[in-house]
Amino acid sequence: MDFSAVSSALKAIGELTQEVTSLWGVDEQVERLASELRWMQSFLKVADARKVDHEVIRTSVVEIRELAYDAEDVIEMFALKVASKRKGGFSNCIKRSACFLKEGCLLHQIKSEIEKITARIEVLTRQLKTYDVSKLGVDGEGPSSSTERREARRPYPHVMDDNIVGLDKDIEKLVSVLVDEESECKVLSICGMGGLGKTTLAKKIYRQSQVVGHFEHLAWAFVSQNCQIRKIWEDILSDLNILTEVDKKMKVEKLAEKLSSFLEENKCLVILDDIWNTKAWDSLKPAFSARKTKSKILLTSRNKEIVAHADKNGFLYELQELDYNQSWELFQKIAFPQTNSPGYKIDAKMKELGEDMVKHCAGLPLAIIILGGILATKYPSLTEWLRVSANVKSYLNNDKGEVLRDVLALSYDDLPPYLRPCFLYLSHFPEDYEISADRLIQLWVAEGIVSSKQEEGDEGQIAEDVAEGYLLELAERCMIQVRERDNIATLKIRSFQMHDLMRDVCLSKAKQQKFLYIADQSNECQLSTIYSLTVH
Ligand SMILES: Nc1ncnc2c1ncn2[C@@H]1O[C@H](COP(=O)(O)OP(=O)(O)OP(=O)(O)O)[C@@H](O)[C@H]1O
Ligand SMILES: [Mg+2]
Repeated sequence: MDFSAVSSALKAIGELTQEVTSLWGVDEQVERLASELRWMQSFLKVADARKVDHEVIRTSVVEIRELAYDAEDVIEMFALKVASKRKGGFSNCIKRSACFLKEGCLLHQIKSEIEKITARIEVLTRQLKTYDVSKLGVDGEGPSSSTERREARRPYPHVMDDNIVGLDKDIEKLVSVLVDEESECKVLSICGMGGLGKTTLAKKIYRQSQVVGHFEHLAWAFVSQNCQIRKIWEDILSDLNILTEVDKKMKVEKLAEKLSSFLEENKCLVILDDIWNTKAWDSLKPAFSARKTKSKILLTSRNKEIVAHADKNGFLYELQELDYNQSWELFQKIAFPQTNSPGYKIDAKMKELGEDMVKHCAGLPLAIIILGGILATKYPSLTEWLRVSANVKSYLNNDKGEVLRDVLALSYDDLPPYLRPCFLYLSHFPEDYEISADRLIQLWVAEGIVSSKQEEGDEGQIAEDVAEGYLLELAERCMIQVRERDNIATLKIRSFQMHDLMRDVCLSKAKQQKFLYIADQSNECQLSTIYSLTVH
């Protein structure tokens, strides 16, 4: 949920109200507007915290964004006029008296503009008040609720896909760290963007004979965005074969204590799959507090920050995309169902089409599997393959491809409000473009997407430093791919790129939120309702 526009409008209103009201006496209108916007902001915050993804809310967010920009525009225009009239002292006062009538007109016009916006906001507020946001996220969504989607993606460590490609080097590296008893490292993390194969790799490791032989016990727990501590600890205790009926009624603190002492006394490997943030780790760590232990913890996460937070000697493993040959190998296994039959030969034209299409997946296994799956259903019709090939992107975004979109969009949904406009802004850059960090930071600041931080009793941070921190945060969340860093010590990013499919998510979110409009010759747009225009 993007409530950054509302926050920014509120901030502008807050800063300008003082000035505006002292001269014009429109405090009542401005206050009413601010109060409506405050309600919107808290509504969106609750919806966001509950991860509500409901059509009505989504449409409303677009409308709220437009209203908030309009409100900000009117207030700013108003303040500009006031400021220009304040300059010039006494002589200007005389001119001001002469312009009294004109000013009266302006005052009237601005008052009525504010009233119009407030009225629009009131209508929207009334609509939203009829929806109980506390219920929407839970059962208001029908079959595609986020809980169900999450459950659908729950991995089962004993179920292994047949078509795995690559991963041998990854397994070798991770296993060597896991079985190294001299190493101080207790927590390892496999990181990368959604659908890259983190869970798949963790499952492989979980079944690796060297690992099974090294550890006395193994446990697997699925964390997900909805981190339920008790459930996770119980799952681990159950895998370790020490969960009793008494434990199920035990206080949660006792459960943590039991798990912690077991991990201290036994050599265990615990896999925490799909952990989202340091907060989730902090809530889980009481069970992993054992110091003198040979047990290890392997995480999979889209967030690189967690491992260093969990263990200063932790090991970060950044999983890479499949290379072209591996991508093709995987694609073939899925798209051509008979590849394994003896004497089977792939049709030359289909091969050519497939080789071209697989490039669109940019090495992301999930995308390759989805695309391959779509094509397998159309096999052996060359006409159908030609149809998909003419519009691969839209096939990856529609129907069956919605899984891919949902998986990648989870990363966007998890962004804190201040990072959302920063991410959406990246939609301005063309595909495969290597973006210079310095240039982006200047743009973010110039466009007002990032501003300085003023903290009480503190010197605060200038906007450029804040922006640099935000960029690092996007990289930590695997939403951008760093290409060059200044030096290893500072980790300062010099240039980066966005995965092609992540860019698609960015573009679609930016369009959905009317953050940006892409103009080409075939479309016309209502420029008044958008934040930013890009011509490609
Ligand atoms: N090396 C691979 N070979 C073949 N298929 C793979 C490979 N890696 C991943 N896949 C397939 O891609 C899909 C996504 O993989 P996986 O669930 O492991 O991604 P993930 O990185 O854990 O994603 P998320 O961040 O959403 O949890 C799965 O269907 C998996 O079987
Ligand atoms: Mg996963």
